[in-house]
Amino acid sequence: MYKSLIINYQEFDSAEALPECDRELLNRAAGATESAYAPYSHFHVGAALRLKDGSVAWGSNQENAAYPSGMCAERTAIFAASAQRPEMRDYEALAIVGRNSDGELCEAAPCGACRQVMIEYEHLQGHPMRVIMQLNGGRVRVVGSVADMLPFSFSLK
Ligand code: THU
Repeated sequence: MYKSLIINYQEFDSAEALPECDRELLNRAAGATESAYAPYSHFHVGAALRLKDGSVAWGSNQENAAYPSGMCAERTAIFAASAQRPEMRDYEALAIVGRNSDGELCEAAPCGACRQVMIEYEHLQGHPMRVIMQLNGGRVRVVGSVADMLPFSFSLK
């Protein structure tokens, strides 16, 4: 039997169309690109996470000469928040911004490994984590939950 999946998401021409809390989170992710350590790819990524008390945790990609030892911005942000504020392990939204080697903001969709990490926290908290992605040309994409971005995800349950 054939089955199909439909993914619902929103796209906007600019961040101006977002509610203030998401616009601010996207700005924090853009700011986080400044702390990226990306001497190999020259692709800087910033991620900002809104915790349940409204505070923001953030991270950026951290590369290494042994390439697979590096870490993406999304997991840097989530793991830092989870480690430093375990009582706030409830994430309303995650914003992700790329900055290319010309210094322009650009698209940075989360990789598969980051999606797997994101969905574990979404399952844990029992409600959706919104994902706000910078796109090229100032456009923005908003996906209502990580589950929409990772069907058939792995879980031990
Ligand atoms: N990167 C991220 O930080 N997040 C993603 O979701 C995709 C890729 C980083 C990893 C590496 O430092 C650089 O972007 C180029 O792949």
